[in-house]
Amino acid sequence: RAQAAAPATRFDFEEVTAGSDERHYVAPGHDADVLIRWGDPVLADAPPFDPHRQTPEAQARQFGYNNDFVGYLPLPGPDPSGHGLLVVNHEYTSEELMFPGLGRQDTKAAAFSGMTRALVDIEMAAHGGSVVEIRRVEGKWSVVPGSAYARRITAGTAMEITGPAAGHPRLRTNADPTGRRVLGMVNNCAGGVTPWGTWLTCEENVNGYFWGKLADDAPEARNYKRLGIPANVFAWGRHHERFDIAKEPNEANRFGWVVEIDPFDPASTPKKRTALGRFKHEGAAGILNGDGRYVIYQGDDERFDYVYRFVTDGRVDPTDRAANRDLLDSGTLSVARYGEDGRGEWLPLVHGRGPLTEANGFASQADVVIEARRAADLLGATKMDRPEDVEANPRTGKVYVMLTNNSRRKPGQVDAANPRAENSFGHIVEMAPDGGDHAAPGFAWEIVVRCGDPAIAAVGATFSSATTRDGWFGMPDNCAIDGQGRLWVATDGNTQRRTGRADGVWALETEGPGRGTSRHFFRCPVGAELCGPAFTPDDTTFFVAVQHPGVADGDDPNAAPATFEAPTTRWPDFQPGMPPRPSVVAITRRGGGRVGG
Ligand code: FEO
Ligand code: CA
Ligand code: CA
Ligand code: CA
Repeated sequence: RAQAAAPATRFDFEEVTAGSDERHYVAPGHDADVLIRWGDPVLADAPPFDPHRQTPEAQARQFGYNNDFVGYLPLPGPDPSGHGLLVVNHEYTSEELMFPGLGRQDTKAAAFSGMTRALVDIEMAAHGGSVVEIRRVEGKWSVVPGSAYARRITAGTAMEITGPAAGHPRLRTNADPTGRRVLGMVNNCAGGVTPWGTWLTCEENVNGYFWGKLADDAPEARNYKRLGIPANVFAWGRHHERFDIAKEPNEANRFGWVVEIDPFDPASTPKKRTALGRFKHEGAAGILNGDGRYVIYQGDDERFDYVYRFVTDGRVDPTDRAANRDLLDSGTLSVARYGEDGRGEWLPLVHGRGPLTEANGFASQADVVIEARRAADLLGATKMDRPEDVEANPRTGKVYVMLTNNSRRKPGQVDAANPRAENSFGHIVEMAPDGGDHAAPGFAWEIVVRCGDPAIAAVGATFSSATTRDGWFGMPDNCAIDGQGRLWVATDGNTQRRTGRADGVWALETEGPGRGTSRHFFRCPVGAELCGPAFTPDDTTFFVAVQHPGVADGDDPNAAPATFEAPTTRWPDFQPGMPPRPSVVAITRRGGGRVGG
């Protein structure tokens, strides 16, 4: 099978077998070594990990839970692909696997009854992000202990709010009458790294952290409804008033942003960049435009939500890092409309233009960015099948949009860019900006692949015929483009029940006769989704984040609940009594060389 596919693509590796069990697998000839796990030390004074004696103080010094985005930033020196900073998001906590004796927390009542103040404070410390210094010695990576760069960001880290919404009355709270200072970031999913060496980390499902009730005629009622606030997933509002919207009705306006962090300065204040809009940000991968402006593509991960683009007003100064410090505070946010004819346009979210006026509740650009979704609704943007990662390929200028799935799209709601009703397996859209200009108002687009099992006709998958039974996938989520311009897709949602396979990484050819051919490269342990794929500049290392290993496999209502005591896997330690641990894995080619050939 592998032989048939090989000539058609630029990928030269033997596939792993699709399936699902307690372990991870990588293509033959590669090593996939665990680099850092939940609970491992980040700060020099971190205590050893003891899952039976967790404290907020320990967790705030240790690697957090549910690693998602991974960014690699080389350190100056002779070995930029062997010595750098790894920046990692800790998106959320899987409480039932994290805390002994808690049991399954899949109902609101259960979550609130079991989650004491002490446990909530631990999970607040397990959110956010980590900065670690890493080094490769004789082919093997490790974390540099006691690094001066090491940092933990948590749900309590002091942050600055910048851009058009900074200081606006809608962002002011009892604790912060300035509307410019907020504690923490939550549900940071994917992100990006900028050419000036900062980390963009994106707040996604922030609605889950809020509870309480607003009156139907409360000022923020319409705004919060559009974002699903409150969703009552976490019990934080029970123990911390700022997460109770009845008590602090503006706090939720301070979440749902892209946060910029300078990982080279551990004392720096993270900045929530409001110019990029407020929604359920998946990621913020960017590209340096031909004219020097920086362009960031963003997905809003919700059924029937949108793809956005932000173009800076200023130009990146490659010689003066400090000159780029506040580049992301001014620019133009736009939202995509995909025409039926393969053409598309970017609709600017600019106060005063079109319907974005006082008459519609937008008194300034602050209102536009705070309610970016409602502004995009009024502009007539195209409602997509859950936009996740969006990444531009610097080699070709084309942009790839991962649309993960949308089982709620009705037959009457299909359009050219979202052509399948009950889209269980997702698809990938490719956009080509007019004239290769990422700031251009128009683009051409087409679908690269409709995902799912090509052997089941009703699924309507469109992988190439060279794709093997291991090679197809469903539910694309994150992606990475390597130094050769090749696309690697990470998935979230493949299970034994849905697709007969665990999540993982697939290499997808986008160019030439092999376009649409996919090959299975890395396979997660059961329960996990695969996040944050990132390459070193020379493609010799591929970092992947294994998130929520050990949860129940898929959405089978009859499946036994997975708990701390009885997870579906104890990956990666496999020690009795040790829970599964979300971890970042470093993939290298045995004997050296580029990952994936
Ligand atoms: Fe956190 Fe859209 O995945
Ligand atoms: Ca994701
Ligand atoms: Ca990515
Ligand atoms: Ca996802």
